[in-house]
Amino acid sequence: MPEPLVQNSDKNQMDPIRSQPGFEQTESRVAILGHPIHAMSVAFPVALTFCTFGADALYWWTGDLFWARAAVWSAGTAFLFGLVAGASGTMELLMVPGIRVRAAAWTHFVLAVMLLAVLATNWGYRMTGYEAAVLPYGILLSGFSVLVVIVTGWHGGKLVFDYRLGTSKSN
Ligand code: HEM
Repeated sequence: MPEPLVQNSDKNQMDPIRSQPGFEQTESRVAILGHPIHAMSVAFPVALTFCTFGADALYWWTGDLFWARAAVWSAGTAFLFGLVAGASGTMELLMVPGIRVRAAAWTHFVLAVMLLAVLATNWGYRMTGYEAAVLPYGILLSGFSVLVVIVTGWHGGKLVFDYRLGTSKSN
């Protein structure tokens, strides 16, 4: 008969991650006057990803070239602002011990890098001819980007609201 596992009532001793030095240090270090740059910058790629899909759908519906041109600009700016958001997020991940040590932060990193790859593909593909690119692959890429940005953004919110990462503890 195998010995039953001995349960220790002290949670700090049971969880090797929790006992890492700096586990409780989760305050943002990439911030302006205490406001985290990552949280402020993520709104732009999120909104522009939705705008690209909207512009593609309007091009499909109306056939108006304006929407194909709007889509290429919004796909490009979604990617470039995504890089800015990604840079601030990566700095937080590497500089803050309590963020670096949590697996959930790395999951968010992997999701975000996937998102940036999809956003880059969506923009780069349109460089071959922004009007012809919309149907069908442009709009399919935009729809996929929307799904990935929803998952990435939701997961980022989880880091803040569930794990309290990047928040201030001064008050
Ligand atoms: C590429 C590397 C990225 C890393 C390492 C990263 C890391 C983080 C971290 C550590 C947080 C917790 C808050 C903080 O410390 O500032 C966070 C929050 C968040 N992230 Fe990222 N992130 C990355 C990219 C992105 C991208 C590209 C998006 C979406 C376009 C995104 C969306 C979010 C959202 C929506 C939050 C919640 C912000 C809030 O509610 O205040 N992240 N991220």
